[in-house]
Amino acid sequence: MDLGLQGARVVVTGASRGIGRAIARTFAEEGADLAICARSPEPLKRAAEELRATGRRVVEQAADVTDGEALRGFVAEAAERLGGIDVLVSNVSGGSAATPDQWERGLAADILPFVRLTEYAEPHLAASERGGAVVLISTTSALHASAPSGPKAYGAVKAALNHYAAALARSWAEKGVRVNTVSPGPIEFPGGGWDRRRHNDPVFYESIRARIPYGRLGRPEEVARAAVYLGSPAASFVTGTNLVVDGAFLDRVH
Ligand SMILES: NC(=O)c1ccc[n+]([C@@H]2O[C@H](COP(=O)([O-])OP(=O)(O)OC[C@H]3O[C@@H](n4cnc5c(N)ncnc54)[C@H](OP(=O)(O)O)[C@@H]3O)[C@@H](O)[C@H]2O)c1
Repeated sequence: MDLGLQGARVVVTGASRGIGRAIARTFAEEGADLAICARSPEPLKRAAEELRATGRRVVEQAADVTDGEALRGFVAEAAERLGGIDVLVSNVSGGSAATPDQWERGLAADILPFVRLTEYAEPHLAASERGGAVVLISTTSALHASAPSGPKAYGAVKAALNHYAAALARSWAEKGVRVNTVSPGPIEFPGGGWDRRRHNDPVFYESIRARIPYGRLGRPEEVARAAVYLGSPAASFVTGTNLVVDGAFLDRVH
């Protein structure tokens, strides 16, 4: 199946490692040009070099998505240098640390960046001749209350974003802009949160792994392929959905 992404202009936040990096790489392999951001310049540079090796155009900018003006600048730079924006992938999260300020962090690093990103990118997405697309990277923690979700800001904040994305999908249909969500279950990669838990808290890690019917955690590229499909014209009539990528971790009927 041709996903129809040759020459598409794609923005991915938090693309220097993990899931965001895999999403950017998969888009590039499908022939898309990329604009990527993260806070630390060196890993971002390495990720951009990896993307350029596919032969695609790549714009990289060190930007903190919690800084509204920096985010606005990144979107403007992406649109100018790529000549527009067809796909926006919002991947950064404040994470699930159980710190006292976790709710503020959820607001600052998850909710406001997604609201601002969609606002800044909206005119470009609406002008896309391919039909604009937004992909929100959420989490299964937004869809259940037990561990590893628990009474933390992370799942609740992502649940709020799921709601906002679903509502945007309905509102933006008349502009021809699709909005979808991808909800990964636990995903493991070297240096990532689950890799750390495997070493630092093996009992907890094993309790989660044992609940996944596939017997293993997911891989970033397995999330990336779902996100790239939803961002592509191949999903032209798919909007307002939440695609769970979790190896049947969640025991629920969608
Ligand atoms: N890993 C999982 O098991 C899992 C499961 C479900 C859902 N998810 C979701 O998937 C997404 C990615 O998760 P991940 O595990 O791949 O994350 P990660 O390993 O922590 O990577 C996050 C990326 O975002 C960048 N970033 C972090 N804060 C930023 C900020 N304020 N501004 C700009 N860039 C920032 C990081 O680079 P810098 O640090 O240099 O900024 C990095 O490139 C998140 O939305 C997460 O909630 C992950």
